[in-house]
Amino acid sequence: MRRLRRTAALRQLVAETALTPNDLIAPLFVREGIDAPEPIASLPGVVQHTLASLCSEVAELQARSIGAVILFGVPEVKDPIGSGAFNPDGIVQVALAKLRDEFGDSIVLIADLCIDEYTDHGHCGVLTPEGAVDNDTTLEIYARAACAQAVAGADIVAPSGMMDGQVAAIRSALDTESHPETAILAYAAKYASSLYGPFRDAVNVELPHGQDRRAYQQDWRNAREALEEVRLDIEEGADMVMVKPAVTYLDVIHLVRQEVQVPLGAYHVSGEYAMIKAAGVAGWLDAEAVAIEQLTAVKRAGADFTLTYFAKEVAEQL
Ligand code: PBG
Repeated sequence: MRRLRRTAALRQLVAETALTPNDLIAPLFVREGIDAPEPIASLPGVVQHTLASLCSEVAELQARSIGAVILFGVPEVKDPIGSGAFNPDGIVQVALAKLRDEFGDSIVLIADLCIDEYTDHGHCGVLTPEGAVDNDTTLEIYARAACAQAVAGADIVAPSGMMDGQVAAIRSALDTESHPETAILAYAAKYASSLYGPFRDAVNVELPHGQDRRAYQQDWRNAREALEEVRLDIEEGADMVMVKPAVTYLDVIHLVRQEVQVPLGAYHVSGEYAMIKAAGVAGWLDAEAVAIEQLTAVKRAGADFTLTYFAKEVAEQL
């Protein structure tokens, strides 16, 4: 076997998987009411952007051949129903319009569609008087958010709240409100992972003590259940599906790839980024090499694209 491993040129010739910048989607945070970018302690190198710094970041990503970004908003004011997610002047809507204006169709704009960044209780849905997440009332809010994002210029909306029926509700609202061209990237198999901690710092979300998202996100002991989630989302109208997180769910990515023909994404999440970065800073690992190895593994497992905080840094090396 070693004959074909002898030189870099031979190895390149027989490489089965090639990671390219085009496989990477950069998650970006935009915060309302700040006038300078704000660093995020648990995500070194990632910031909460102002509208202006968001635009320069997108230009830099484009210069490195990254073709798509996904936006998350950090509002100044939160409320029980997360109105910032659907108000036309909510921060993500404003940012989408500005980016569309500045970059035209040269970049794919994806809007994460959820309300946890906008609710004062931090859950991904509205609550019943007893404090449970109310599935169907939440769907009405997601539908409004999808339309607001479409009007503002999103090419793709990406529901991440794991409510049952969310894709059908969003598809129907988009079609009714004359946005049949807006695509849906479903966070189809999203696990109740402990790897989202740094993200919650990035969007200033804290769940009340002792609460978690296990009543809506998937139990990580289950893989077959992911196939059912994916099947339902495609049936409801998802154009693309996603598995999240990435590296601890390579088996799930592989299974889904075998089952479906639609584009499949993976989300290399904040905790995956933070672990590698922290070990890199300590001098324990070569962070960039580990990032490229992990992102290549995600592609090898079957993902067509990966959302990753490493997008810019890794694209420079590819
Ligand atoms: C929900 C959402 C989360 C992430 C993306 N969308 C947080 C959560 O489910 O708690 C996490 C992404 C990451 O950790 O990088 N709006």
